[in-house]
Amino acid sequence: MKMLKCCALVAFFGIMLVNAGCSPKKAEPVRTAEIADGTIDPAQWGKVYPVEYELWKQTSEPTAAGKSKYKKGFDVGEELPDKLDEFPFLALLYNGWAMGSEYSEPRGHHYMIEDQLRVDPGRYKAGGSCLSCKTPYAPQLEERMGEDYFSKPFKEVLAEIPQEHQTLGVACIDCHSNRDMSLKISRGFTLGKGLQKLGVDEAKLTQQDKRSLVCAQCHVTYSITKNADMKSTDVLFPWDESQWGGITIENIIKKLRSNPASAEWTQSVTGFKLAFIRHPEFELFSNNSVHWQAGVACSDCHMPYTKVGAHKVSDHRIMSPLKNDLKACQQCHTESPEWLRNQVISLQDRTMSQFIRSGYATASVAKLFEMANKSQAEGKQIDKDLYALARDHYEEAFYRVVFIGAENSTGFHNPSEAMRILGDAASHAGKAEGLLRQILTKAGVTVPVKVELEMDKYVNNRGVKKLMFKPEHEIKDPFAGR
Ligand code: HEC
Ligand code: HEC
Ligand code: HEC
Ligand code: HEC
Repeated sequence: MKMLKCCALVAFFGIMLVNAGCSPKKAEPVRTAEIADGTIDPAQWGKVYPVEYELWKQTSEPTAAGKSKYKKGFDVGEELPDKLDEFPFLALLYNGWAMGSEYSEPRGHHYMIEDQLRVDPGRYKAGGSCLSCKTPYAPQLEERMGEDYFSKPFKEVLAEIPQEHQTLGVACIDCHSNRDMSLKISRGFTLGKGLQKLGVDEAKLTQQDKRSLVCAQCHVTYSITKNADMKSTDVLFPWDESQWGGITIENIIKKLRSNPASAEWTQSVTGFKLAFIRHPEFELFSNNSVHWQAGVACSDCHMPYTKVGAHKVSDHRIMSPLKNDLKACQQCHTESPEWLRNQVISLQDRTMSQFIRSGYATASVAKLFEMANKSQAEGKQIDKDLYALARDHYEEAFYRVVFIGAENSTGFHNPSEAMRILGDAASHAGKAEGLLRQILTKAGVTVPVKVELEMDKYVNNRGVKKLMFKPEHEIKDPFAGR
């Protein structure tokens, strides 16, 4: 829980050039009226803070395609990139539930519920839980409905939201107190409980901590826990045994593997019941990354100060810093945007090369399990102990691959930790493969040198992809005409 002291840090590290005035001056809010308690409608907040409101609305606009290598953005008429097309081994690994049929890259905050409504309905089968990091009504719905909020069908819970706000995504009230605009964690029922696991006292959080934690209300991993009937019961952060600044992949996996309620789906290739990891931006970033160590927050890079007319405000058009010509970085770094862009992309390239290698290695192991399971069904003798050991290594590899695949910075948020995680994934996959070859050979099955992945089966057989940005598909602006 540090303050930003980058000038001292420059002297300490002395590696990169960082601006002397790098602790950017605070923006000056323009306040014109009061916001009544309980006001959710951003247009009302916008009457008091028009500049931030206009920027916030701009998250509906297409982002510059071509400025980012891995987060291409979208132009009207283009389809959103899908992780399963970009990394086909994921289609094999996630086959068995909706994540394996459609897994599109994120886009602007404006779209969060619209995109949910447009995806394969399988993706919101978990029920109301899915609204937890989408609607500003989530905290009050959870409070009012209790367990029903998590388990009831998605559309039923959505219908509890006033009609005009049913496609409203993250709003002012999610991050701010209406009284004084201070930053506020509104999701006690998810992040609040997560922070308790870390032993963090919310009252002692610094401003800089909150500039990351407002994002960590959603940009974190969670399990949608299930009861015996596979009904959703809660949204759980697997942060047990971790600490502030050190939520490790090891502890996350330990919690997921030891908690039967976290087993959300069955992987079709292996038949294993498994958990899942989603967008762990906060976990990867805060685990001792260079920028976290230097006291940098999510908002420093994704909400840089910007001038609008005579006002200096935090850029509420949240997006990739690459698409904003790395203006955020230049608050602290004196290097040119080209240089910074090259740094980002080369870090991402290295991470993705290792991701692809460990991903295919893990997918090969899944196919070897398929062979072993088939051989056993045919009456061949499969060594149980070795099989259990192989499964252990496989799951360790699998969750590491899922973690980096789901983290949306393609490694940039913490390059060295990403490489460590993927290195361990490759090593676990290698051990599992060795064990499975041994098991199959002992059972009298000949294993080919190169395992046939049958990728076509998984990549081309995903039903009709529905998340397409079509110009003829009218997008309703919930604030039009106000
Ligand atoms: C209420 C939950 C929620 C909160 C709070 C939240 N996000 Fe998001 N964010 C999302 C969702 C959901 C998406 C994906 C939307 C989609 O693809 O339809 C997203 C997308 C993004 C994107 C991709 C935008 C693009 O143009 O592709 C960035 C960057 C981002 N968020 C950063 C942040 C930062 C930084 C914060 C904190 C200041 C934050 N988010 C707070 C839920 C949230
Ligand atoms: C995802 C979280 C998030 C959402 C949603 C959000 N803000 Fe902010 N807002 C921030 C952060 C972070 C800051 C910077 C606070 C700081 O460090 O002082 C900020 C700062 C502000 C400030 C102080 C002046 C400035 O620009 O820095 C105002 C006013 C403001 N926001 C208004 C709004 C309004 C109005 C909305 C809704 C239309 C909104 N915000 C939505 C996160 C958010
Ligand atoms: C030091 C700057 C920096 C910090 C701090 C930072 N990010 Fe990022 N973030 C980036 C960069 C650079 C990318 C890669 C963007 C790209 O490839 O286009 C990125 C990517 C993302 C994306 C995907 C963007 C997209 O267009 O799909 C999300 C979401 C995101 N960050 C959220 C967060 C959250 C949440 C935090 C805090 C826990 C955070 N970031 C902290 C620089 C930063
Ligand atoms: C609030 C200040 C701040 C912002 C904003 C910021 N940085 Fe940094 N950055 C630092 C500090 C401090 C260090 C560590 C000290 C050093 O290496 O000089 C650092 C280190 C780095 C490093 C070397 C460490 C590593 O992870 O390999 C790179 C590359 C980098 N920053 C790129 C970026 C990019 C790209 C952005 C914008 C997306 C950005 N930074 C935004 C302050 C900042």
